[in-house]
Amino acid sequence: VPKIRPKQVFSNQLQPRASSFKVAVLGAAGGIGQPLGLLIKMSPLVSALHLYDIANVKGVAADLSHCNTPAKVLDFTGQSELANCLKGMDVVVIPAGVPRKPGMTRDDLFNINAGIVKTLVEAVADNCPDAFIHIISNPVNSTVPIAAEVLKQKGVYNPKKLFGVTTLDVVRANAFVAQKKNLKLIDVDVPVIGGHAGITILPLLSKTRPSATFTDEEVEKLTLRIQNAGTEVVEAKAGAGSATLSMAYAAARFVESSLRALDGDGDVYECCFVESELTELPFFASRVKLGKNGIEAFISADLQGLTDYEAKALEALKPELKTSIEKGVAFVHKQA
Ligand code: NAD
Ligand code: LMR
Repeated sequence: VPKIRPKQVFSNQLQPRASSFKVAVLGAAGGIGQPLGLLIKMSPLVSALHLYDIANVKGVAADLSHCNTPAKVLDFTGQSELANCLKGMDVVVIPAGVPRKPGMTRDDLFNINAGIVKTLVEAVADNCPDAFIHIISNPVNSTVPIAAEVLKQKGVYNPKKLFGVTTLDVVRANAFVAQKKNLKLIDVDVPVIGGHAGITILPLLSKTRPSATFTDEEVEKLTLRIQNAGTEVVEAKAGAGSATLSMAYAAARFVESSLRALDGDGDVYECCFVESELTELPFFASRVKLGKNGIEAFISADLQGLTDYEAKALEALKPELKTSIEKGVAFVHKQA
């Protein structure tokens, strides 16, 4: 008789963990929320997964709860259940809001998503002000400053724990560069700085690891492709939304990195859009070192020794990024 052994999708799910964490996803029934919930449910570092949406989240939670992994899944529907969803959370991920359709910019989503993010972050401030907050909802260049202002108004702002999720830009840069240069995917790491919209997305190809050389034409083409990759997906989906699966993958990576940092791993680095003093802009995406208390260090070395192309692109993105940041800040102050 063959020996029957329990099988898991990933073998490390059976390894006992010293600690585990509680994660909430707000917007959990959406295109990103559903696959993101699945990926988080697969993490051995998660003991509780709270799923919140304004509708349709019961079925998602029932479905996910049948996966035989440790995280306990609970569902929460509507504003009246939001506080209970958030109490005790270590990480709150926010992909709530509307996605783009062809012909739209991310900023075209501002009018709807600004209010959604504001309301959700108010609840985070009231119920789990110490959590890491991951903002996915677009336009990230404005929604992160909105979140910061809300947290300030509530007196609980910790800039080391508020993150705009730009991991998808890094994931794309890594994928496209590996493909172009025939590199082993697992090795490739391209820092992406600036923000998360059009020309504010600036991949630093000169800082690619392992080091790779690019012709001027390759730099131009790869940079444009990374900057327009979101639009590439929006157009391919032809009205059915924007990136959801690659975004869920990227967001799950950022969640996993945050949990490893909370777990005491001293070697966690990610690019993200955060309050920053690396440039004259109040928020800026760069590589940061994550630790138990959030951001431990900003990796300023990435901004040194830029190529002429990168240095010019960095200057060129600043006015747009500044405008988007100020628009977010003004939105919260107007409502006060
Ligand atoms: P979607 O429409 O499929 O899902 C959004 C979900 O949010 C829906 O389930 C909806 O019910 C929910 N929602 C709406 N209002 C809410 C509220 N007040 N509280 C809680 N939930 C609410 O959209 P999607 O494809 O999942 O995209 C979500 C957002 O993520 C969009 O703004 C999109 O632009 C953004 N996005 C960001 C990145 C990034 O790199 N940061 C990548 C892809 C998409
Ligand atoms: C992306 O980069 O895929 C997201 O920001 C969604 C979008 O609207 O492009």
